[in-house]
Amino acid sequence: MAWSTLWAYLLLAGLSAGKYIVPGGRWHDTDGDLVNAHAGCVTVDKNTGKFWLFGEYKTEGQTEGGGVSVYSSDDLATWESHGLALAPVEGHSYIAPSNIIQRPKVVYSKVTNEYHMWWHADNSSYGLLLQGFARSPNISGPYTFVSATAPLGNWSQDFGIFTDYKDGRSYALYSNGDRKEARDVYLTSYNEDSTALEKVIHRFDKYDLEAPTIVQTEKSYYALMSHKTGYRPNNVVAFRADSLAGPWSQPFTVAPLNTRTYNSQSGFTLTIKGKKKTTHLYLGDQWDSNSLWESRYIWLPMKIDDDKKTLDLVWNDVYDLNVETGEWTPVKGKTYFAADAKTAGGAFKQEANFASKGTIATGIYGNDSTVSFDGIVGAGKPQWVSFYYQNTDDMGFGDQPGGSPDRIGGSWQLRRIASVVVNGNTERVETLFQRDTHKGIVLSTPLLLTLEQGKKNTITVGGLWNGFGFKGADLDRIIVYPAEKDGNRG
Ligand SMILES: *[C@@H]1O[C@H](CO)[C@@H](O)[C@H](O)[C@H]1NC(C)=O
Ligand SMILES: *[C@@H]1O[C@H](CO)[C@@H](O)[C@H](O)[C@H]1NC(C)=O
Ligand SMILES: *[C@@H]1O[C@H](CO)[C@@H](O)[C@H](O)[C@H]1NC(C)=O
Ligand SMILES: *[C@@H]1O[C@H](CO)[C@@H](O)[C@H](O)[C@H]1NC(C)=O
Repeated sequence: MAWSTLWAYLLLAGLSAGKYIVPGGRWHDTDGDLVNAHAGCVTVDKNTGKFWLFGEYKTEGQTEGGGVSVYSSDDLATWESHGLALAPVEGHSYIAPSNIIQRPKVVYSKVTNEYHMWWHADNSSYGLLLQGFARSPNISGPYTFVSATAPLGNWSQDFGIFTDYKDGRSYALYSNGDRKEARDVYLTSYNEDSTALEKVIHRFDKYDLEAPTIVQTEKSYYALMSHKTGYRPNNVVAFRADSLAGPWSQPFTVAPLNTRTYNSQSGFTLTIKGKKKTTHLYLGDQWDSNSLWESRYIWLPMKIDDDKKTLDLVWNDVYDLNVETGEWTPVKGKTYFAADAKTAGGAFKQEANFASKGTIATGIYGNDSTVSFDGIVGAGKPQWVSFYYQNTDDMGFGDQPGGSPDRIGGSWQLRRIASVVVNGNTERVETLFQRDTHKGIVLSTPLLLTLEQGKKNTITVGGLWNGFGFKGADLDRIIVYPAEKDGNRG
């Protein structure tokens, strides 16, 4: 091996030491099952440095009552399932399969030397509005139910926990619900041992927000929350303060407007203090209200500037996070433009000043009206391909129950669904979900594809049945990312 080749090899090996993080992809665990832990948290095991992901466990056709699942990881990209940390108990008043067990959070208590799990505990009509508490000597569980209580006598809906790294003290964040008189989000301190709430530190009054989380820098605290639009994403906002008691700033948006926070809802943030760099991660949920258990994860680095007092999510299709150094690097891919692609049938290219090369491909319907990208270099093993698309169905109505999100009374959940075929092999049709993007907004969504090694690949995109028609979204471009060194898990 020549020195230059060896050097390049070592460099590549070093750079891709961890697996890639792919926001919005289908994430599989080490058993090959979908990672199923929604609206949860990541807790770091102080002794081993291992990351533990907790979340709502949902199975096909079931929306609530699955309990709390738990996964472990050394790199935040490879996840091993450890089953349920908190299993539902038939006939129980608070953790029966008919109960709501939402937004679970786990913190370590130095005083009890145990792990404490807290969550939004409720009945199926959201009439209880309590906080559940369970504990375990083992981070992975099983957790034993302790209580479900009203925090300092009040209501509690969407729940979050924040632990201040400066003094180790934990705080609960909770919105007190959808009632007219309860549009506040509370920030309340726990007692020393994190077994009960002690004191309201701040109330975010009448902003009518939910899904709260706090991220801490050297100088500031930023509280992120979403608006209340159910499973439809909206513009997540943040507040900034020097201290938890405030004064807190006005809320500001954290992602480009009309991307609806890259189609995600806030819920948790994680800080990686690496040897070289501190990276703050936004751990958001991309809900799929048609199939909740398949909901995806939008995990993105945040760019925080304490001098300018700003916080912005940084979109990456695919990135490589080194949890030891704290550094993350965007993975570079090769771009193929719709402007240069072939259209067939009723599909055609249309002027679009917001699109790449001023052109977008539209009319992508069924099997016949397709767009084909040619000459694609493949790796001969699974690799992520990001499809940049526009879904204009935010304007549509009449063909969808309840109308669209940007109409009065809108309740949209329609997404366009495309078929993706590699090298004309219709035996294997991949499904690409393309959620609403707002008119004139191009977003991307990833799919793991296996292309032949070399330059001769063709990717053909058509439209699949979305409940209303065989409709794929408009296409701007695709970006083909390199395969990971030790294979993608997808
Ligand atoms: C939930 O609890 C509230 C308050 O006790 C009660 O009014 C409501 O009927 C309960 N809902 C169900 C489905 O049990
Ligand atoms: C703690 O959890 C780990 C991982 O699931 C398991 O191997 C171990 O046996 C558990 N220990 C106890 C005391 O339950
Ligand atoms: C409960 O919440 C409401 C609305 O935020 C507030 O007016 C009331 O003071 C709270 N009660 C307690 C006991 O904290
Ligand atoms: C697309 O092709 C498949 C398989 O040939 C066929 O079953 C399906 O009906 C076609 N769909 C449309 C919309 O033409």
